Amino acid sequence: MAVDTYSVLQRLRRALQDLHHQHPSLKHFTPWPLDAQVGDARRTDHAARQAMQAETWGGGLDDAVLIEARDACLAAGPLAQWRVPYAGTKIDPDFTTRFGCYCIVGDGGFWSSATMAGYLVYMPAGLDYPMHHHPAEEMYVILAGCAAFRMQDQPPRQVAAGDAVFHPSNVPHATTTADAPLLAYVTWRNHLGTPPVWTDPALGR
Ligand SMILES: [Fe+2]
Repeated sequence: MAVDTYSVLQRLRRALQDLHHQHPSLKHFTPWPLDAQVGDARRTDHAARQAMQAETWGGGLDDAVLIEARDACLAAGPLAQWRVPYAGTKIDPDFTTRFGCYCIVGDGGFWSSATMAGYLVYMPAGLDYPMHHHPAEEMYVILAGCAAFRMQDQPPRQVAAGDAVFHPSNVPHATTTADAPLLAYVTWRNHLGTPPVWTDPALGR
């Protein structure tokens, strides 16, 4: 492993350990995994990675732990195995082109663990991530930007950097960005092996 790669990933692990220790919601959801092993990430690029790194992030943040988590996730972007979630479904190809996600802990991630999974999610401005669900419980921690989160049978909720959103097992949820992009650290616990599916059967599985 190149020294540069090593230092970028050391920084990312330290930044996320701090976030897990200090974020008031995340620390109760799941600890940074004590069983973390080196993962099987194979570097792959994605148009969303370039868009993410061309954004002007920042402004309004005064939380050093959050800022470091954001910047460490951005710095690790070029090393990551970017995913194409929902490939093969009937979702508009514009979504799969613009929606960005790489695994931090889990399959195709920098680390593996039996206790949790962690992902970096990027959404540019003006993107709708339709209702979907999965058996894993999920927590979003917003690292930068803002978005509207919706959960079945509940009113939409506007969130910004520092906020957390919890999704219970199999409860459909959706996210929409308006004028600003979104960067979030997403963690899962329980049922880690079952990927999300669209809630609307017309979108396919
Ligand atoms: Fe989810």
